[in-house]
Amino acid sequence: MNVVKGRFIGVGVGPGDPELLTVKAWRLIQSADVLSFLTNDRGDSQARSIAIDAIDAAIGVQKEIPIYMPMQNERSLANQAYDKGAERIAKKLEKGLDVVFLCEGDPLFYGSFSYLLERLEDRFECQVVPGITSVNAAAATLLQPLTMLKESFAVINGRHSDEQILAALEQHDSLVIMKAGQARIRILDLLQKAGRASDAQYLEYIGRDNQQIVSDVAELERASGPYFSLFVISPHDQRQRRLHK
Ligand SMILES: C[S@@+](CC[C@H](N)C(=O)[O-])C[C@H]1O[C@@H](n2cnc3c(N)ncnc32)[C@H](O)[C@@H]1O
Repeated sequence: MNVVKGRFIGVGVGPGDPELLTVKAWRLIQSADVLSFLTNDRGDSQARSIAIDAIDAAIGVQKEIPIYMPMQNERSLANQAYDKGAERIAKKLEKGLDVVFLCEGDPLFYGSFSYLLERLEDRFECQVVPGITSVNAAAATLLQPLTMLKESFAVINGRHSDEQILAALEQHDSLVIMKAGQARIRILDLLQKAGRASDAQYLEYIGRDNQQIVSDVAELERASGPYFSLFVISPHDQRQRRLHK
């Protein structure tokens, strides 16, 4: 007998505030046969913790596939983890079970889901439920428009080279620098060098209990920060900005 294969669904759970889960995400999480998510070496999953209310409201007993992801820049270790994770998920999909993969923020914006998608999309039906990104949550938290009228806007990250970051800071009116944790000191120096330090604000753990906002980056400690941190660089005086456009 041919079993109808299950669907692989990447669900964005937003950046931290559990109320930023979409209605569709909630429905799919609580009705999923299997939930999957990345974990750190302590077995913690940010995405799972953000979605905990929806998981607690699950209709039946849900199986879980935690995928341990080593927090290192070594791509081969990450690829091994994705290979193994994709095969564990594939076994459930073959049995006709729907697997929901929980993604912090949006699944296709720097999302780990993309690496599983490329391993599974040829064999199974795949879907994505978009989530609110950390970029949108940062703008909302700061009450700061990301871009207006003819302004240009770029997203870069702390793994870009000094030259790339400087060029982007010179070229664009507004930017977000993701993955700022380990690159924090370097980013602070580059903001100074580009004359953009006064346009920059720093946020960590947006939407979580330990959220921090530093509006004057000169006050930010010159040390590495947590993984969940970013910089928003945007013309600071909103009134002036609107009048001049
Ligand atoms: C792998 S990317 C994931 C992005 C995520 N998919 C999204 O849509 O925002 C991880 C980076 O996103 C940023 N980030 C995600 N959530 C965040 C949060 N709650 N607070 C601050 N930065 C966050 C940080 O720069 C972090 O290094």
